[in-house]
Amino acid sequence: MMTTRQIVLEPMRRKHLKQILEIENQVYPRPWTHGVFTDEIAAARRAQRYYVVASIDGKVVGYAGIMLGVEEAHVTNIAIDPARQGGGIGSYLMHELCAVAVDCGCKSMSLEVRVSNKAAQALYAKFGFVPAGIRQRYYENSEDAIVMWCHDIDGDEYAAKLASLTGEDQ
Ligand SMILES: CC(C)(COP(=O)(O)OP(=O)(O)OC[C@H]1O[C@@H](n2cnc3c(N)ncnc32)[C@H](O)[C@@H]1OP(=O)(O)O)[C@@H](O)C(=O)NCCC(=O)NCCS
Repeated sequence: MMTTRQIVLEPMRRKHLKQILEIENQVYPRPWTHGVFTDEIAAARRAQRYYVVASIDGKVVGYAGIMLGVEEAHVTNIAIDPARQGGGIGSYLMHELCAVAVDCGCKSMSLEVRVSNKAAQALYAKFGFVPAGIRQRYYENSEDAIVMWCHDIDGDEYAAKLASLTGEDQ
């Protein structure tokens, strides 16, 4: 059985992309391409993004990223190997993204999620995101997106919330 203590986090690199694309292609109907990931890794070098990879025993099990604005951070992608979903890795990565957004001085975070994606919505709610609107036909010009926001991440209350969700096994 896995514990989150076995998870190693490191910045996303091109060397991870083969394994990342294997996950990406399984979990999304419109997966990001190799080119999108390399563009995002380049943006991360300019400190406009942060992308992190989670590995267990040297194998990529998940990854996540965030776009860093002056006041706002936007979650761009989070995905876990289907064989590993439900084991806490998504929470571990979300904790890392939120902590980085706070460290970068952002005041709020936002994201879009499919109306049908209840697991992801529950994950985001755990980290303080609340639904704030709908983007109609956002995905494949067919499924609506729920826009979720998490405000006041620069305050003491959010720091306490993140501390209670340490990213470690409870
Ligand atoms: C969404 C996703 C990232 C969650 O990662 P995960 O490692 O499975 O999540 P965790 O095990 O840390 O669970 C986090 C929370 O999500 C919720 N959750 C997880 N699986 C769930 C499911 N099958 N149904 C409902 N809620 C679920 C729970 O609230 C859980 O918190 P809890 O365990 O404290 O109750 C993962 O399922 C995934 O990669 N999905 C495909 C890609 C995707 O949809 N990405 C998001 C795009 S917006």
